[in-house]
Amino acid sequence: MSDKTLMLGAFQTFGLGGAWRLPANTSVDFLQLDHWVTMAKRLDQAGVDFLFFADDYSYPVLDGRVIDVAIEKAVLFPRGDPSTILSALALVTERLGLVVTSSTTVEKPQMLAKRLATLDHLSKGRIGWNVVTGSGQNASSKLMGEKMIAHDDRYAVADEHVNLTMKLWEGSWEDDALKVDKENGIYADPSKVHEIEHDGPFFKAHGLLTVPPSPQRTPVLFQAGTSPRGRDLAARYAEAVFVAAEVDMMATQIADIKARAEQFGRSADAIKFMPAGTFIVAETEAEARALRERMVGYQTLEGAAAAYAFFTGLDLASMDLDKPLATTKTEQGRTNVERFSGENGKPAPTVRQILDEFRRNGVMGQPFIGTPEQVVDQAEAVIETTGADGFLVQPDPTGGYDDFIDLVMPEMRRRGLLTEAPSGPTLRERIFGEGQARLPHDHPGTAYIAATPVAVG
Ligand SMILES: Cc1cc2nc3c(=O)[nH]c(=O)nc-3n(C[C@H](O)[C@H](O)[C@H](O)COP(=O)(O)O)c2cc1C
Repeated sequence: MSDKTLMLGAFQTFGLGGAWRLPANTSVDFLQLDHWVTMAKRLDQAGVDFLFFADDYSYPVLDGRVIDVAIEKAVLFPRGDPSTILSALALVTERLGLVVTSSTTVEKPQMLAKRLATLDHLSKGRIGWNVVTGSGQNASSKLMGEKMIAHDDRYAVADEHVNLTMKLWEGSWEDDALKVDKENGIYADPSKVHEIEHDGPFFKAHGLLTVPPSPQRTPVLFQAGTSPRGRDLAARYAEAVFVAAEVDMMATQIADIKARAEQFGRSADAIKFMPAGTFIVAETEAEARALRERMVGYQTLEGAAAAYAFFTGLDLASMDLDKPLATTKTEQGRTNVERFSGENGKPAPTVRQILDEFRRNGVMGQPFIGTPEQVVDQAEAVIETTGADGFLVQPDPTGGYDDFIDLVMPEMRRRGLLTEAPSGPTLRERIFGEGQARLPHDHPGTAYIAATPVAVG
């Protein structure tokens, strides 16, 4: 049994869930603010640590054209912009962290820094940024009217992006720069507000962040993407990493990221690892299995192929079903190519098996299925084997988390796996403990903390 307390996040996209056709599923209401308000309040009251919104500027494309089945069956389509609702969710919740993705390939650092710093104020320090180079590059680069950047180059861009963004957050304002002194008419001390300089291969900036310092300054840095370059990015900067793979592979990925982090001068426990966790739970195992099959029954092989194309750019329908992947070369996301390439000494699965795995489980890996006791046993085994720190919980068949909150969390609580009184009020304190609202000392972002230049001579 694990002696850790588990961190819990709730996964959403600002769109339809995979089980949207089930009669009880409410994700078709994703453009109603009430839908999100109800969900966020429920998660907050239940003690879930944060709500996470995945995001991208893409959809399934092959040979330069959107795949019809993606539009017809709502495969990784449609999408709204989740950052638009975060201030509303901050208002109706007290402690829930709010984590959102922004791709370093798509959005400029200056714009992202301003938006997230503002949200960090509005939420009183509960914002996290999921740093990704982005899924569905073929679609998003076409949408942006840009040439697709090669995979490893995207990670070079990401590295520089994160540094510039942290410079803006940490380096623009000294802690005591803000005065708001009405009597003397002084809003801020100009000698303590600094223009930052950045002159890199991908970004240039000379100027300052106009948002006064927010509670966390740099929002909590999450990361997803476990190609070798992705792991490097995680090891340098991430404070929490989303992973999804078969258990042995996940254990290897986590150990590798921890080892790389230590090489970069960070402590091995500076990063929390959160596997995606799908909990299919019911009063009896038979009911849980039946529910699972009902959910899978709505997924088609065509939809699975479209999803695979979204993540990898590879067209499974054009390959021999009884052979392994005909090519593993792609400039799109690598995580889901490496996952099926026979790494870790395992035989590579056939295209048919990959399609079936994608139809059943998508990118999030094997679900936990059974009674509350059974699923928590399975979840604990994953924590034990991989050294992970909690779960990014996938929505249940309703699109929300009622089953998880009502059936799984009580069992986790009974086993002492959940913190009774999480620290706060910021998200970073909730994750790392009281008094740790800012980046820790061994994080490279602290090098940018603003200080008044010492006068020479
Ligand atoms: C739990 C989880 C959440 C993810 N969220 C996003 C997301 O919001 N946006 C995105 O583009 N990719 C997301 N990804 C996909 C990866 O980050 C993607 O593989 C990466 O952007 C491409 O990098 P890679 O080549 O290292 O795989 C997520 C992956 C996982 C496991």
